[in-house]
Amino acid sequence: MGRITAAHIDHYREHGFAIVPEFLTASELAEALEEWRQLLPGWVEYCEDPTRPRPELSRSPRRASAFQFPYPGSRLNAITLHPELVACAASMADGAEMHCEQSHLSFKHKGAAGDQDQGMHCDYGNHTLAYPPADPAYWQTAYLLYYTEVTETHAPTAVCSRRHYPEKILWPAHYTREQRPALYDNEVRVIVPAGSLLIYSMRTFHRGTPFLAEGGRLAQFVTYAPAAWKWLGIVGWSAQAIKPAFRAWIESATTAERELLGFPPPGHPYWREETLAGVGARYPGMDMTPYRNGL
Ligand SMILES: [Fe+2]
Repeated sequence: MGRITAAHIDHYREHGFAIVPEFLTASELAEALEEWRQLLPGWVEYCEDPTRPRPELSRSPRRASAFQFPYPGSRLNAITLHPELVACAASMADGAEMHCEQSHLSFKHKGAAGDQDQGMHCDYGNHTLAYPPADPAYWQTAYLLYYTEVTETHAPTAVCSRRHYPEKILWPAHYTREQRPALYDNEVRVIVPAGSLLIYSMRTFHRGTPFLAEGGRLAQFVTYAPAAWKWLGIVGWSAQAIKPAFRAWIESATTAERELLGFPPPGHPYWREETLAGVGARYPGMDMTPYRNGL
């Protein structure tokens, strides 16, 4: 059995979310934290012990491409394409071929721009051009991975069971506490140890809560969508392909991993002498054999 169990999937289907405590193994977490230390010197230590002085922040993690896939190391990239994340999302979408439509790091601390008492909302506003139906063919699964411990006071994500919004059409996608107190009164706070995972969908009401004490929280958003539909997804990966880290990642990835980002698969009519030569020139470390063999 995997780390995301049948019980987690059942809970996800029934309530619209599931919490997997300590999804990451100790070594995956340690390697990921080492990469966080490179990206944001001093912040892992500060999140783990908020009595330490808060380090300066040289750049804003909310927009900088350094905080989006692919990352300079290999562990955060591997976690993005973790087979269990792909498999869980695919199972919710009736086994459809999946596309990784998001992977970015989320970084919050008390008093930061992201330290907000958010309203209850669904995330589909910036994950689809259209509307997320209940039909599995269009089912997008979002993951929020926590790299540092989330306590009561450290901005736990709050999520509400589908039971409390049984309506057919989920519009509006945002409610204030005054408009819909039941969503707030029935929220579950995701208070978990480092390495834990929240699974939710574009049809799940949830919100960020504020820090109640000095501290920080390191997390990662990863979202999967069925690959077939162009109206789904938060980013285009070509925007990241210009980063040096992209070349390193794509050269070492498997053909299946590349495909999760939308890269043409072996056997696709895209592959001709010209494209084999061109892609091979752009990414000299890529083994072109699988694409050549598919000709
Ligand atoms: Fe959200």
